[in-house]
Amino acid sequence: MEIPDVIQDEAFRRISRADKLVMVASGKGGVGKSLISISLAAILSDIGRKVGLLDLDVHGPSIPELFRTDRLVRATRFGFEPVRLNGMELMSLGYLIGSSPVPLGGEEKSSLLRMMIALTNWSELDYLIVDLPPGTGDEMILAVRALKRHPRSGVILVTLPSRLSLSVVERALTLLRDEGVNILGLVENMSYLKCDGRIVRPFGSSDSSSLGVDVLGNIPLDPKMEEAFILGQVPHKVSEEIRRSFLTIASEVERRL
Ligand SMILES: Nc1ncnc2c1ncn2[C@@H]1O[C@H](COP(=O)(O)OP(=O)(O)OP(=O)(O)O)[C@@H](O)[C@H]1O
Ligand SMILES: [Mg+2]
Repeated sequence: MEIPDVIQDEAFRRISRADKLVMVASGKGGVGKSLISISLAAILSDIGRKVGLLDLDVHGPSIPELFRTDRLVRATRFGFEPVRLNGMELMSLGYLIGSSPVPLGGEEKSSLLRMMIALTNWSELDYLIVDLPPGTGDEMILAVRALKRHPRSGVILVTLPSRLSLSVVERALTLLRDEGVNILGLVENMSYLKCDGRIVRPFGSSDSSSLGVDVLGNIPLDPKMEEAFILGQVPHKVSEEIRRSFLTIASEVERRL
C-alpha cells in the first residue's frame, strides 16, 4: 500500500497560493544571491505585485538581519505566519533557528526546509521569490524538487563574470536541467565597477551568454550597495543605474513566467 505524502501535498497547496514562483540559485556562495532575491522581491512589490519572500539559506539566512525582524514569526494552527513588512510577506529559516550558530545535522536541515515549504501560511500572492539553499547539495535539491511542482515556476542563476563562477554555475545549470526546472536566465552580478570615470572589471570579463542561457541583466559592483544591503534598503537607496537594472530583471521575469 502506498502511503500518501501529506507533507508534499500540503507543500504544493501552500506554494500554489502564489500565482508565480521564482527560485534564485547560484551554485557558488557570496555572489549576491540574497541581494538579488531581496531586490527582485522589493522591485516587484514596488510595481504593485503582492510578493512573498522565502529565505531557505540553511547556512546564513539573511532576511531577519537585513529587515531587522528577528524572531517575529508566529506559529498558529494555520502554520507559520510570515512576517508582514513593507507590503511583503517574509519567511526565513532564521526565524526558526535564531541567529546563534546552531550546528544542524543534514536530517535536521532537511526537515526544517520541508516544514517551511509545507507550513508557511502565505496569503494569495502574485509572486513567491525563493532564496534557495547555497550550492548544489542535498538541501538545494530537496527545495528545488518541492518548488518546481508549481506550474508557473522558474529559476534565476546568479553569477559573477569570472571563469570560476561561470563554471560552477554551468554545473548547477546541468543539474537544474536534469531536474526539469524551467530556467528563466542568468543575472550577472558585480559585472563592472566605475572608478574615476573608467570601467574596471575586477572579476574578469568572461561572457555569461556562453552558457547558452539568456542574460536577464547585469548589476555593477557598487561600494554603496553593501551599506544599502545591510540597512535593508536595497534596491531603494542605490544608484539610478542599479535600480534600472533591477527593473529590467523584474520585467524579464514577468515576461518569461
Ligand atoms: N553588486 C554589488 N555591489 C556591491 N556589493 C555587493 C553586490 N552584490 C552583492 N554585494 C555584497 O556581497 C556580499 C554577498 O552578497 P549576498 O549575501 O547577497 O551573497 P550570497 O550569494 O547570498 O551569499 P551566501 O552564499 O553567503 O548566501 C554582501 O555583503 C553584499 O552586500
Ligand atoms: Mg545568501
